[in-house]
Amino acid sequence: MGYNVAIDGPAGAGKSTIAKLVAKEKGYIYVDTGAMYRGLAIHFLDKGVDPENSADIARACQDADVSIRYEDGAQQIYLNGKNVTDRLRTEDVGNMASKTSAIPAVREKLLELQRSLAREGDVIMDGRDIGTHILPDADVKIYLTASVETRAKRRYEELKEKGANCDLNQIAQDIKERDERDMTREIAPLKKAKDAILIDSSDMTIPEVVSAICGYCRQE
Ligand code: DC
Repeated sequence: MGYNVAIDGPAGAGKSTIAKLVAKEKGYIYVDTGAMYRGLAIHFLDKGVDPENSADIARACQDADVSIRYEDGAQQIYLNGKNVTDRLRTEDVGNMASKTSAIPAVREKLLELQRSLAREGDVIMDGRDIGTHILPDADVKIYLTASVETRAKRRYEELKEKGANCDLNQIAQDIKERDERDMTREIAPLKKAKDAILIDSSDMTIPEVVSAICGYCRQE
């Protein structure tokens, strides 16, 4: 078993930014589980499957093979042998991933892939149910959150930098809806594990959060 750090939290809390930096500092492999759900979501979008139809989604899962490779240290997602990493981060894909991640067949499909990565190496894995369900015995569990306003503002700045035309109120609304969906679904809802450390990053800088998390990890 590798050394395992779990980071869960809502969309836009900064999990991936923080986890990547902790991984670099501590020499762990960063595993972005949201990207796996997004990889499957691309499969459903390309096939035109209705996310509300669980039976069709479960059937579509059968001909999807999601795998993960590391190229120059960066995680790449392959869908049926094709690198789809460039397509992962659009709103359409995020919304499809949020809807379909509530379907048991989708979660089962990715469970073993996630657990096997944690068995094989020292990982910092981010997602929604890592500390509660995927790695209940993780060595360190973090629940990283921030206020809706802060998360919306961060997302707005990120999109603006990319030259996208966006509306702050709309982004805040989308974040609230995504939170509601992720937290109230029946299977593996987003919640803080009892033994997770709560970090609210609303008023913290990125280096402050990274340093706090590194402080909870094994010191070499
Ligand atoms: O972290 P993200 O925005 O890339 O995740 C996309 C969606 O995937 C998110 O809305 C919920 C789902 N997800 C999940 O259900 N469980 C995980 N471990 C990771 C993501």
